[in-house]
Amino acid sequence: MARFDETSSFGAQRASIVTGSRTTLQIEDSILRMVARPVPEEMFGSETLTRLVEEMWMCMIDAGGVGIAAPQVGISWRLFIGSASSILPSTVFVNPEVEFHGEASVLGEEGCLSVPGWRSAKVLRHSKVTVRYRDMDGGSHVETYEGLAARVIQHEFDHLNGKLFIDIDDSPEVDDTLRRRAMRAMAEMEDRMKARSEADA
Ligand code: NI
Repeated sequence: MARFDETSSFGAQRASIVTGSRTTLQIEDSILRMVARPVPEEMFGSETLTRLVEEMWMCMIDAGGVGIAAPQVGISWRLFIGSASSILPSTVFVNPEVEFHGEASVLGEEGCLSVPGWRSAKVLRHSKVTVRYRDMDGGSHVETYEGLAARVIQHEFDHLNGKLFIDIDDSPEVDDTLRRRAMRAMAEMEDRMKARSEADA
C-alpha cells in the first residue's frame, strides 16, 4: 500500500464506494515478510482472481491509497494494483517482472497502510522502471514508468518480495516505537523461517 500526498484526489471515488470491514495487514504480520508465489495459471480469468482484485481496489480506495499488493490483504500471490489519477492509470499487475533503469537515485516520500503512522521523505528509488506483467485474463503487457508512477510500482513490487519501504528508509526522524516494532517483526519472521528450514532438513 503506497500513499502519497500528491494524489489525495481520491476523495470523490472513495465516497462512491460502500466499504465493508476490509482491513490491511499490519507490520507485525509475517505474510508481509514472505516472498509471494506466482498467481497460478488456472486463476487467470477466474472468479477467485476477480473477487480478490475487487477486494484490493476497495481496500486501496477506502484507505485513500494509490497502490496495494495482494500480501497486504493476506494473499501471498505476486499481484498488485495501482492507480494515481493522471500519474498512473488504474492497472492490475499480475506476476510482474520489473527491470530497473540506472541507479536508485531519487529520494521521495512514501507511506504504507501496513505501516501506519510512518512516513518518510527519504526513500531511494529508481527514476524509471519497465514492467512486464499479465492482466487478469492472462494477456501479456510491457510498460515503462517514470517518476511517481515508477515509485508506486517499486513500492508495491517490494511487497511481493517481503520488503517494506522502511527497510530502505534512512531518515533520522523515523518514529522509534515503529522502528522497534518493525525490527521485532523482522526478527520473528527470520526465527520462524529458520525453524521451518530446520524442520524440513
Ligand atoms: Ni505499502
